[in-house]
Amino acid sequence: VRRILVCANWKMHGTVASVQAYLETLIAQAGAADAEIVLCPPFTLLPAALLIATGSSVAIGAQNCHWADKGAFTGEVAAPMLAELGVRFAIVGHSERRHHFGETDATAAARAQAAQRAGLAVIFCLGETLAQRDAGETFAVLERGLLVGAYEPRWAIGTGRNATPAQAQEAHTALRRRARELFGDEAAERLRILYGGSVKPDNTAALLAGNDVDGALVGGASLDAEGFCAIIHAGPGRRSGA
Ligand code: PGA
Repeated sequence: VRRILVCANWKMHGTVASVQAYLETLIAQAGAADAEIVLCPPFTLLPAALLIATGSSVAIGAQNCHWADKGAFTGEVAAPMLAELGVRFAIVGHSERRHHFGETDATAAARAQAAQRAGLAVIFCLGETLAQRDAGETFAVLERGLLVGAYEPRWAIGTGRNATPAQAQEAHTALRRRARELFGDEAAERLRILYGGSVKPDNTAALLAGNDVDGALVGGASLDAEGFCAIIHAGPGRRSGA
């Protein structure tokens, strides 16, 4: 049985005042949901978010972490620093990191290892560009990047253009098949594969209908508390393994 995970990725948005109001709504409206709920605000809002979410069922995650545990890396944040605060998740390898900041599968994998060393659960993002999909390279891209993951076709992120439920299920099935080969049946059954890319309240139920789609990584639509709660309630709480 895999518990559905719904993650809000605020990207570079939010204020201390807004995280307070948002979490109060989220905890009141979705706190009792069966699905696991994670909020990933910018680094500056983590202490406030953690304080407000203490004792609730909403977990707090970071949007990135560095691959070294400490060192001369101006402007970066290390995984043990996040763990010390009480952060439980880290998004790693998001397509915006890859597109704007030169992240590669190799650097993302190193960051994921650092997060795991610090005891953080990793939400590892991977997905093809539109050119790669059109060239028939989708599965090759997924194969190269596989760790544990969120499938986020890059053409669907922030574009309003989501993958069809069939495209999502097909990619997730391929990822789980590959995970089975690499890590064995048990680990592959436990692996939660989230879909990300223009998830909205009105397409969540269809996207999460696929048996290998174990949750959602939500960007733009997660900024509105009511909308994010609607997304949480639109999906199932658990997925019985295949
Ligand atoms: P989006 O972003 O929901 O705004 O498309 C998804 C993501 O970047 O994780």
